[in-house]
Amino acid sequence: MKQDGKDIAHFPHRHLLGIEGLSPTEISILLDRSESYVDQNRRVDKTSPVLHGRTIINLFFEDSTRTRTSFELAGKRLGGDIINMSVATSSVKKGETLIDTAMTLNAMHPDVLVVRHPDSGAVKLLSEKVNCAVINGGDGSHEHPTQALLDALTIRRRRGHLSGLQVAICGDITHSRVARSNIHLLNTMGARVRLIAPCTLIPPGIERMGVEVFHNMADGMKDCDIVMMLRLQRERMGGNFLPSIREYFHFFGLDYEKLSHAKEDALIMHPGPMNRGVEIDTDVADDVGRSVIREQVEMGVAVRMAVLELLALNPEYEGKG
Ligand code: NCD
Repeated sequence: MKQDGKDIAHFPHRHLLGIEGLSPTEISILLDRSESYVDQNRRVDKTSPVLHGRTIINLFFEDSTRTRTSFELAGKRLGGDIINMSVATSSVKKGETLIDTAMTLNAMHPDVLVVRHPDSGAVKLLSEKVNCAVINGGDGSHEHPTQALLDALTIRRRRGHLSGLQVAICGDITHSRVARSNIHLLNTMGARVRLIAPCTLIPPGIERMGVEVFHNMADGMKDCDIVMMLRLQRERMGGNFLPSIREYFHFFGLDYEKLSHAKEDALIMHPGPMNRGVEIDTDVADDVGRSVIREQVEMGVAVRMAVLELLALNPEYEGKG
């Protein structure tokens, strides 16, 4: 595959449904291509005609700020035609099923569908019914592949590599697709993952994914290079998982005291949206020397440009939509 006369590594998949199953080489292809878009996004003129004539549809059945906006910007910066389908005003509200909605959109010949859905597995099911490439923008508590890629790009740019790093993922692991995609990616790339959470927010048997589990921030964060905080996903909790928010912040909220157990230069990350005073103290979140939360958002656009390009222009499938 050529772009601007240069050879671009080929990504050998039709869809991006998850990180699970991707090889280190495939992850590196996505990260290297994303890296090339970081500079373009910092220029005054941020556009290039890479996806000219291609159609991308954002189909979000769940709320989103960052993911939906960054896919939209990514498509526009590559010169594609991108539309947002607002589920709130669509026929889904009239009882149309997920598959019927997908088939309707498919009949309009899009090149890529970006889908977010509250049910784990729904995006894969949809990908089996359409002719175009499908990107998972987050399915239930299963996977959120572009989030893990943008997290990895942020870490790689700061630390130069992923292998050998000790990464602590803290908070509501049970309901987090971000945690699952990050565990797959970090393990595949040779980093070591620790999960820190109360017993009620860690799925039993998660050690089988190759992680270490801690129920205490001081022990779990010891000598960590990266501290990744997660929001309590209350929209996915069917009941009370915690005695109180105050107690949760006391034991698991990231403040300077707890952070002191990590390495002195440990980076603070959060996928957003943040709940200040719940999982993270506001001063820690805004600490320009340590927090890379805004950089994560910036990298999100570059990653989504790379993913859109590599899937929409995949020579194995082009014109087969
Ligand atoms: C995450 C998500 O939707 O899974 N947000 C995001 O995409 N940046 C995390 C969250 O909602 O807490």
